[in-house]
Amino acid sequence: MTQETIRTVQTVSELRKAVGTWRSANRKVVLVPTMGALHEGHLSLVRLAKETGERVVVSIFVNPAQFAPNEDFDSYPRTFEDDLEQLAKLKVDLVFAPPRDEVYPDDFSTHVTVAGLSEGLCGASRPHFFGGVATVVAKLLNQCRPDVAIFGEKDYQQLLVIRRMARDLDTGAEVVGGPIVRESDGLAMSSRNAYLTPDERKHAPELYGTLKDIAAGLATGAMVAPLLEKGRERLSGAGFDVDYLEVRNADTLQPIEGHVREPARVFGAAMLGKTRLIDNVAVPGSGVQARAI
Ligand code: PAF
Repeated sequence: MTQETIRTVQTVSELRKAVGTWRSANRKVVLVPTMGALHEGHLSLVRLAKETGERVVVSIFVNPAQFAPNEDFDSYPRTFEDDLEQLAKLKVDLVFAPPRDEVYPDDFSTHVTVAGLSEGLCGASRPHFFGGVATVVAKLLNQCRPDVAIFGEKDYQQLLVIRRMARDLDTGAEVVGGPIVRESDGLAMSSRNAYLTPDERKHAPELYGTLKDIAAGLATGAMVAPLLEKGRERLSGAGFDVDYLEVRNADTLQPIEGHVREPARVFGAAMLGKTRLIDNVAVPGSGVQARAI
């Protein structure tokens, strides 16, 4: 069997040259930014990219700026050869895999902050995170200049932060969200699931189960606070250390109290042992939740 090959570049000038050729031939270019350790969730974004445009670029870069010193930058899973094999099978046109100093030269001094949307939820417990994400994605959009960039809805707050940044900075890229892909027991796919011990893995789907039940309760008209209280108890009982469990407007991320009367999502983040899991679920029937700008 012949091995599929895939074109990989490491520098911004090579990336620009390839994308420039496509753009001058009027090809619609779609970028899927990743940190590698690809799983079915990423691959579903690549498939969506192929349906959305005519040329697909996947970037692989474990971005140091979005990890705090006490977080898992060093141990973050790196499976580059395997990632390339999976992307080759999907016939991705180009992989951009820059080394650290191509992205962050020694005297790199710029930081992109998205006020409002970056605050609360993951922004409260990981204050460095969205600035690091917005900075690297602003660079990627500027380096690649895609027509469309695709991000997973598992990181829903990240998706909204990036969409706002892309608009505010006139990147010209449309930011599109791809639906969450789940394991058969409901656990949202994530590269960090690899950290779970077999016992933790058994309990991990309880996060989705809790969010789903809260969303279903809200859809029947129940009040937010008692459902969240019950949810926190359920997660603690299953061995989670809850970071947040909240109901927020799906577009503005403003907290919702009382009854749900606007497009809403239930958001949760919790530690299971040493692994931080996040997930979110739309409240059924609460309103249209746009995937594109
Ligand atoms: O979601 C991710 O994998 C990362 O946060 C992203 C968007 C690739 C930026 O480094």
